[in-house]
Amino acid sequence: MRLQGKVALITGTSPNIGGGIALGMAAEGARVACVDRHPPYAHACAADIQARGGEACGIVCDVTDEAQVRAAVEEARRRFGGIDILVNNAVLFNAKGVLDMPLAEWRQQLDVILTGAFLCTKYVAQLMRAQGRKGSIINVISTAGHQGEPWNVGYCTAKAGLLNFTRSVAMELAADGIRVNSLTPTATDAAEAQQRAASWGVAWPPPRQASPQRRGFLAEPQRGVPLQRLPSPWHYARAAVFLASDEAAMITGIDLRVDAGAVARYWRWDPAMA
Ligand SMILES: NC(=O)c1ccc[n+]([C@@H]2O[C@H](COP(=O)([O-])OP(=O)(O)OC[C@H]3O[C@@H](n4cnc5c(N)ncnc54)[C@H](O)[C@@H]3O)[C@@H](O)[C@H]2O)c1
Repeated sequence: MRLQGKVALITGTSPNIGGGIALGMAAEGARVACVDRHPPYAHACAADIQARGGEACGIVCDVTDEAQVRAAVEEARRRFGGIDILVNNAVLFNAKGVLDMPLAEWRQQLDVILTGAFLCTKYVAQLMRAQGRKGSIINVISTAGHQGEPWNVGYCTAKAGLLNFTRSVAMELAADGIRVNSLTPTATDAAEAQQRAASWGVAWPPPRQASPQRRGFLAEPQRGVPLQRLPSPWHYARAAVFLASDEAAMITGIDLRVDAGAVARYWRWDPAMA
């Protein structure tokens, strides 16, 4: 049990990646606050952990709202006596290009990805410091934060920003023993989330907007990654557990890519042809 005695607050606990990380951390002994704007995702994730014998609570919170974030952090502290791990995972997908994205949607997407991580980090780190306990913060990026994906300008920009937010905050909080790292997923195998959504009795994925101009994407995305298969939330959970655990005690300011080799790939080489 690598997270025994630790408390994790995880944002965006849908049946996909956030839910997978929440369950993975709970399986390693963490008590988990499942935070989501959408009440069924917060509560069903917590109920799943409880059904497996773990300790969890669902907290409904919009991570872009400062008062709600403060209240969520306070509720987790009251329930579990403190917070040791924060996973900034909540996201708003809205794949549009610079020519057609309305300003209000650009602001809204950056607000969820960047302001949400800023507010959660601010209030959780303040609590970690006041507790005098060492802590671990993990920001969930995307291969699109490392590469230029067309017609996804808000997402690419915000995720790249979150990468360097990670380094800046890692430096600021190092003296307090709070480690700050990021985790980079990529296109994800949907089977695990679909199974989890069915067992939670919730609808997933949520309806997503995308620019009608998007074109040129591989129909079978696993053909574009060197390992020739897509990761599942379970794979990300293993990496998140590692970053949060004492085994990573000397690791701060890094990005751990769990991307089947996607970012490392040389652009001229097609792994499906090799
Ligand atoms: N799914 C992928 O293929 C993929 C690939 C690379 C990176 N990622 C990253 O992984 C993370 C999780 O992605 P996912 O596919 O599980 O997404 P998802 O859409 O399944 O879950 C996102 C969650 O965030 C919640 N959320 C949205 N706005 C919120 C707000 N304002 N306050 C609180 N909660 C809010 C949603 O309700 C939802 O539960 C994201 O950071 C995403 O960028 C995903």
